[in-house]
Order: sequence, then structure tokens, then C-alpha cells
Amino acid sequence: MTSSIFPLGRQARLAVLASGRGSNLGALIAAFPPGGEDELAAVRLVVSNKAAAPALAKARLAGIPAGHVPWPSRSEFEERLGVLLAGARIDVICLAGFMRLLSPEFTQQWSGRLVNVHPSLLPAFPGLDAHAQALSAGVSETGCSIHLVDEGVDTGPVILQRRVPVLPGDDVESLSARVLEAEHAAYPEALRMLLSGHWTHASERERSQQEVD
Ligand code: GRF
Repeated sequence: MTSSIFPLGRQARLAVLASGRGSNLGALIAAFPPGGEDELAAVRLVVSNKAAAPALAKARLAGIPAGHVPWPSRSEFEERLGVLLAGARIDVICLAGFMRLLSPEFTQQWSGRLVNVHPSLLPAFPGLDAHAQALSAGVSETGCSIHLVDEGVDTGPVILQRRVPVLPGDDVESLSARVLEAEHAAYPEALRMLLSGHWTHASERERSQQEVD
């Protein structure tokens, strides 16, 4: 990982990629409004691979340029996405329920500036159906992770995690609703840490090392 470019010394321009309902997008818009009220960042672009994604309607309602980019193939998607990102002079990409895997070339190009939210305490339960995985493992605690994206699936360095209890009688619906609330608070908080330069991969490694020592 290259050394961090943060703090930028100006307001960061965020793009959000979402495939679905966009509740995390809503939390990011509330924290980093397109009107520029927040000094650290503003959401400047929303892209979905699904034309009917409620996330696109949510973005447009907030006055944010929002576009559907089809996915006939990964390379075609990434090429068109690249044009939009460059046009909007995007600094940081936030994946928020984006249900596709980006190429190693793309993740390398955006290394340190591509962030994801995952509904488990990584490295536990990566990939799809994290809540079902947690329930069938019988854990008493799960949560969410905000992490940088690398070439693997949910393997990049974790910026911030929030713990959430698994309660007796929980099903995927009740557990995901509880975790989602934690995601909405954690995602903006993690971005603030990253953008302000208060989190670096090196400092995270040192912290983990100190916990081991
Ligand atoms: C969230 O649970 C997120 O962790 C996962 O996909 C879900 C997206 O939900 N990656 P929403 O579209 O943000 O409401």
C-alpha cells in the first residue's frame, strides 16, 4: 500500500457506488451533503449498476449527479465509470451495497481511496450472506467493518469496526436491521478518520502489533 494522500488540505469529492436501496448512501449524504456544508467531504457523484436502484432516486432527490452504468462486462463498466469519476474529479470512492467485484487493476488504481462497508466483524464472515453466516455459526456478537478495498473479497485493511450483539431469536432480518444502524454511524466516522489523516494503514499495523506485544 502506498503512503496515504490524506489529509488532502481541501474538501474531498466522494463518489458512492450502490446497487440497491441505498440506506448507507443516505447516511453518507447526511454526513457529507452535496451543498458542501461539511469541511472534510461532499458526495459529488452516485453510480449504480442497476437502473432501478432506489439509491439513484435518493441521490437525485438530494441534487447529486447520479447515473446508471450498465455491466455488460466488468471492463466496460469500469471504463465508463472511470470517465464519470474523472469528469467529477472524484478523490474517494465509497462502496455502499455495491454487489459486484471490481478488477485488481481498478482496485490498485484506487488503492487507499476505495472504501467499503461490510456487515460483519472482518475477517469473520466475508462475502455474501454475512448475517446468515453469523447466525449459523452461533456467535453471540457480530457487527460491521469499514475497510479499504484491495484485490481480495473483503480482505482489505479495516479502518473501523462496530460490535453488535446477536440476540436470542434473531433472524437475518432482525440482525441485519440492528447491524445496519451501526453501519450508518460507522461509515461516516471511518471516512472522517481516513480523510483527516487520523488513520493510516501503518498506524493500524502498529496498533495491532501493540495489542500482541
Ligand atoms: C449493507 O448491509 C452493507 O453492509 C452491505 O450491503 C448492504 C447495503 O445496504 N454491503 P444499503 O443499500 O446501504 O441499505
